[in-house]
Amino acid sequence: MSKPADCGCYGQKQAQEDSSAVDFSQEQKMLVQDSWAIFSIGDQPQVVTDTTYLYVNLFRIRPDAAALFGFKEDDPLTEEAVLGNQRLKTHVGRVVKGLDFIVKNMYDLEEVGDFLHELGARHVKYRARNEFFQPIKESMLFAFERKLGSQFTPQVKQAWGVLLDIVTTHMQEGLREACAAKNSQEQ
Ligand code: HEM
Repeated sequence: MSKPADCGCYGQKQAQEDSSAVDFSQEQKMLVQDSWAIFSIGDQPQVVTDTTYLYVNLFRIRPDAAALFGFKEDDPLTEEAVLGNQRLKTHVGRVVKGLDFIVKNMYDLEEVGDFLHELGARHVKYRARNEFFQPIKESMLFAFERKLGSQFTPQVKQAWGVLLDIVTTHMQEGLREACAAKNSQEQ
């Protein structure tokens, strides 16, 4: 029997088991929309740089995540090496683009949920693990805080926290299911 795919599908119980039961108020959606508009005016490259920087921390906590972006086991995970990694920069750009789609469609959470579920499922082939998602959420919040400064009020932060929890929970569900399906096919 081949070894089960190691993508966290048997991993820790998630904080939000039922992703359809999320409480995301109209007011919070407006806060997200208004603050996201500030990004689309320009400065996306800065968000990408800030968020890429946070992978330095992810790789400190989880050096195994670096292999997904082409780092070899003995490669030093220095700030310079992480920031200079083109695949990582491309991925951050994709995450930002994905967020743009989500913000534009967040009034239809069912459609957003389906999109994220499928995206999460595709991550099984990239060898992503469920535990990698929380640091990505933290890194996005950090990047937003840097960009928005005093406009990143506790209410705006909370609203983004809700949205990023939706992203994380749906993607993790999709990944967990795809991983379980892969493992049962391989048995
Ligand atoms: C906010 C969460 C995330 C979003 C929105 C996202 C989005 C994407 C998108 C749009 C792609 C392009 C391919 C496709 O559509 O199937 C992709 C590829 C990929 N993702 Fe993610 N992702 C997220 C989280 C993660 C995490 C946590 C990891 C692992 C640390 C990861 C690792 C990868 C890898 C290795 C690829 C393959 C392509 C490449 O080398 O860039 N992703 N992701």
